[in-house]
Amino acid sequence: MLDTRQRTPRFVHGLPAAAASARHDSRDELRRSLRATPPTIAPKFLYDTRGCALYEAIVELPEYYLPRVERSILDQHQKAMLQALPQGAELIDIGSGDGLKARRWLDAGIVRRYIGLDIAEDWLRDCLRRGQQRYPELQFDGVVTDLSWGLQVPLAREGDRPRIFWYPGSSIGNFEPAGAIALLRQIRQQMRPGDALVLGVDGPAEPARMVRAYDDAAGVTAAFDLNVLNVVNRALGADFDAAGFRHRAVFNRHASRIEMHLVAHQRQSVDLGQGAALSLQPGEFIVTEHSYKHTPQRAEQLLHEAGFDQVRRFGIDGEAYGVYLARIGHVRH
Ligand SMILES: C[S@@+](CC[C@H](N)C(=O)[O-])C[C@H]1O[C@@H](n2cnc3c(N)ncnc32)[C@H](O)[C@@H]1O
Repeated sequence: MLDTRQRTPRFVHGLPAAAASARHDSRDELRRSLRATPPTIAPKFLYDTRGCALYEAIVELPEYYLPRVERSILDQHQKAMLQALPQGAELIDIGSGDGLKARRWLDAGIVRRYIGLDIAEDWLRDCLRRGQQRYPELQFDGVVTDLSWGLQVPLAREGDRPRIFWYPGSSIGNFEPAGAIALLRQIRQQMRPGDALVLGVDGPAEPARMVRAYDDAAGVTAAFDLNVLNVVNRALGADFDAAGFRHRAVFNRHASRIEMHLVAHQRQSVDLGQGAALSLQPGEFIVTEHSYKHTPQRAEQLLHEAGFDQVRRFGIDGEAYGVYLARIGHVRH
């Protein structure tokens, strides 16, 4: 029988890890990381309202090949993946953003409930509202959370449904390898036999192609990167002048990662609030993102180290990008 009830998205907040909750303040975290060597701003701060809008423009750029390659892989292998994925599932969209990529699974009819997880609250609310309108028969829920606190899904399974953890876009590459393994392990710990993780991971390509993907000709990625200084100014009452910096993307071959830098092109002395300051000489830089490029062997190793015992890679000829379908045969904590 058709379910005609009007559904409204439910919305909850994750919490910093219990032990740290009393002390946790993202402003202290920011100040500390800006005074580290090299000064660093974690990529999670890139996603204020303007940052989210700029990211939506980045995924359309001709140079940013990742979403196109991922889409081709999914188009080519969707049938095989659907045979391996559970039906009637809850889809947990990790770092959901606009949630558009999840629609292929909703359209395929295997999902009964969508749960978006994201640090960007307004973007998440918008994603849930639009999803609920488009798929009124499904339940849309969201968790505003910071993945660096650990994977938090404080919403019980409805009717013991299987879960699909969906982590596309190679966002796992923003974590240092130990952090990536820790996050994958937390996903695995929340899984039961029959659940699945579908993970997009970019691999190393020709360096010039990768650099262009993170430093496009139209300057959209540069604007996205420089905007983080406005986020820091608002959060800390700091006085960064974005005009004193330029965006740069470099491939660090040794670490197999793209690094985004904001390079000072003049001497800077920045007030970070609460008596803290940052001094930069011309040419010194702030790190704003690492995007690890994991070979297929390395990606599979990360999944195995996190405890996944069933891993299948889907790819297309000529691309190192992989979509990995990982499952567990038994529960292991
Ligand atoms: C690169 S975008 C990917 C968006 C979408 N999944 C896609 O593939 O197009 C990364 C997403 O993760 C979110 N994000 C970044 N760091 C996060 C963190 N520490 N905790 C939770 N969400 C985070 C951002 O707000 C953004 O929505």
